[in-house]
Amino acid sequence: MLQIALVGCGVIAPQHIAAFAKQYERATLSVFCDLDMEKADRARAHYEKLLGKSVGSRIVASYEEVLADSTVDAVDLCLPHHLHAEYAIAAARAGKHILCEKPLANTLEDCDRMIAAAREAGVVLFHGENMRLDPVVNRAMELIREGRIGIVTGLQQTYAHWQPEAMNRGWRARPEEAGGGQLMDAAIHHVDILRHVGGEIVQVQAMTTQHRPELGPESEDTGVLNFRFDRGHLGQLFAGHATRNRGGSPLLTVFGTEGSLTLEAFWPRRGLVWFPANNEPQVLIEHHHWQESFDAEIAHFLDVLLEGVPLRATPEEGRRNVEIILAAYTSARTGRLVEV
Ligand SMILES: NC(=O)c1ccc[n+]([C@@H]2O[C@H](COP(=O)([O-])OP(=O)(O)OC[C@H]3O[C@@H](n4cnc5c(N)ncnc54)[C@H](O)[C@@H]3O)[C@@H](O)[C@H]2O)c1
Repeated sequence: MLQIALVGCGVIAPQHIAAFAKQYERATLSVFCDLDMEKADRARAHYEKLLGKSVGSRIVASYEEVLADSTVDAVDLCLPHHLHAEYAIAAARAGKHILCEKPLANTLEDCDRMIAAAREAGVVLFHGENMRLDPVVNRAMELIREGRIGIVTGLQQTYAHWQPEAMNRGWRARPEEAGGGQLMDAAIHHVDILRHVGGEIVQVQAMTTQHRPELGPESEDTGVLNFRFDRGHLGQLFAGHATRNRGGSPLLTVFGTEGSLTLEAFWPRRGLVWFPANNEPQVLIEHHHWQESFDAEIAHFLDVLLEGVPLRATPEEGRRNVEIILAAYTSARTGRLVEV
C-alpha cells in the first residue's frame, strides 16, 4: 500500500481526502502536514471519519520531516502557488512522487525546474488538474472524436462564481504569491479544458477588470479571453469571481458543423447535453458532482504509480496552461494580441 503525505490542509484538502479515502485499499494518507497543526489535525480527523477508523496517520508542521520519512512514497501538494516549485523540487530530490495542485507554478522558469527535477530523480510529477480527468469532459471528448458534432468550429466557456472573501485573505490576495489574480487561480482550469477539448491555443487576446477589491486590491477578479486554436477555430472564455449564485459550474459549449455539446461539468442534473443537427437535444449525463473530478484525479495518480499507466495530466500541459495565462496578462496589460 502506498503511503502519501498531504501537504497543505486548507480549502481544497477535503476534496483530496475524500478521494483518497475511496482508494484506501491502494494508498493511505499516512502524514498530514501543515504549518498550522490544527488544520492538519482537522484534516486527519476528516480522513478517519470517512474511513470509520484510525489508521495511525501522523500530523507534522515541518515539510523537512515529511521528506526525511522513508516510508512516504509520494506527496500531494495543496499549497499556495509560490511554494509549488520549491516544494516539488525538494520532494523530487528526496525521491518522492509528486501530485501538485494547479497552477504548476507561477513562472515558466519554475515549471521547467520542476519538470527537470522530476526527470532527473525518476519520479512522477502529476499536474493536479482535476477537471482534465472529469468524467463529463471525458465523455464529451469521446463524442467529438466519434464525429457526433462534425468539425469543431468554436468553443465558448463561462465560469461565473462568487469567490468567498475568506479564501482571499492571505496569499491569494497577493499577486507576487498567487502569480496574479483570478486568471492564474481559476481561469487556468478553464484554459486547460478548452485546450483539452478544443486543441492547442496559438493566439490570446485578453481584457481584465476588478469589481471586488476585497479579493485582492491589485488583482483582477474578472477576465474575458479570446483564443485562436491551431486548427483555425476560435474560442472565448468569460471567467469571473463576482457573480452570485451561478455556482462554480463551468459551462462550456463546443460548436460543430453537425451539432453542439454543452458541458455543465459541476452542475447536478445537466452534466452533458448533445444538440444534434437534426434532432431533439439529448441529456447524456444527468447526475454529476464536482467531487467526481477529484475522485478520478486521485484514482489516476495511483494507477500511474502502481500500474505504470501513462500520465493523463502531464507537467508539460500544466506549463502550457501557465504560458497561456501569462500571455493573457501580457495582452491585458498591453492591449495586444499575443502569439503563444
Ligand atoms: N482543483 C481545484 O478546484 C482547486 C480549488 C481550490 C484550490 N486549489 C489549489 O489548491 C492549492 C491550495 O489552495 P487552497 O485553497 O487549499 O489554499 P489554502 O490557503 O486554503 O490552504 C493552503 C494550506 O497550506 C498551508 N501552508 C502554507 N505554507 C505552508 C508550508 N510552508 N508548509 C506546510 N503548510 C503550509 C496553510 O496553512 C494552508 O492550510 C492551490 O494550488 C490552489 O490553486 C485547487
